[in-house]
Amino acid sequence: MRTIMVLNAKGGSGKTTLATNLASYYAAQSKSVVLADFDPQASSLNWLKARPEDRPPIQGVAAWDEPLRVSRTTDYVIMDAPSGRHGKRLIALMRYTQTIVMPVLPSPLDIRAATSFIQEIQQVGKTSTRNILDTPLGAILKRLFGSGMPMSKARLGVIANRVRENTLAYDSLYEFLDHLKVPFLTTLRDTQNYIHAAERGLGLFELAPSQVAYDTEQWQPLIKWLNSKRSLPQ
Ligand SMILES: Nc1ncnc2c1ncn2[C@@H]1O[C@H](COP(=O)(O)OP(=O)(O)OP(=O)(O)O)[C@@H](O)[C@H]1O
Ligand SMILES: [Mg+2]
Repeated sequence: MRTIMVLNAKGGSGKTTLATNLASYYAAQSKSVVLADFDPQASSLNWLKARPEDRPPIQGVAAWDEPLRVSRTTDYVIMDAPSGRHGKRLIALMRYTQTIVMPVLPSPLDIRAATSFIQEIQQVGKTSTRNILDTPLGAILKRLFGSGMPMSKARLGVIANRVRENTLAYDSLYEFLDHLKVPFLTTLRDTQNYIHAAERGLGLFELAPSQVAYDTEQWQPLIKWLNSKRSLPQ
């Protein structure tokens, strides 16, 4: 089972857009897909409600509200994370996933917030299991996952989202990611295609290919990374 979480502390960066597009991409490949919405705003589940019945099915889970249990036959669990998660609640969230995809908007403020969030995520990866297990949260996690609960070794990749033109705004982000050895995966342009698809409960890959050729091309490096061992915990 492959687990992928779309995460950024910043609101409106494109988490739900990425999560729903990833879910529909894998569903269209005949994979069994669970879309786990960890955000009580329920944007991913609302997208799913609009999804036509004749499209490849995706199972929605209100993961903010109930423990995430998925059947063994599930191929992909795509997780839409809420914004503003830090500290212990971030640690708890990250335990669910092998891979984190972080969309970042091209504004200086968003880039600055993303760089400190990436450091926080990397710190979570370094915190020892023992430290966590000895806390009250650890007791809950132990009950949920048993003693075999793995540390979060989730691999992180960053994408630039809603980019209008070739912008230099990312220079500082590139340098920072390079320094931290976090891959910069791709740039997604700002286009109504995402909005039109979302309105109909669809993903980009389900629209007319001629309409979305440029955009689906931009997705290829992300998909290639997700399909490679580079995006899996070592
Ligand atoms: N590449 C894009 N091109 C155009 N519009 C986009 C793109 N990505 C996201 N959007 C739009 O930006 C808005 C915010 O995106 P989205 O809801 O995916 O962000 P989010 O990170 O899930 O937000 P929240 O933190 O509120 O959950 C939405 O209206 C969405 O349709
Ligand atoms: Mg969202």
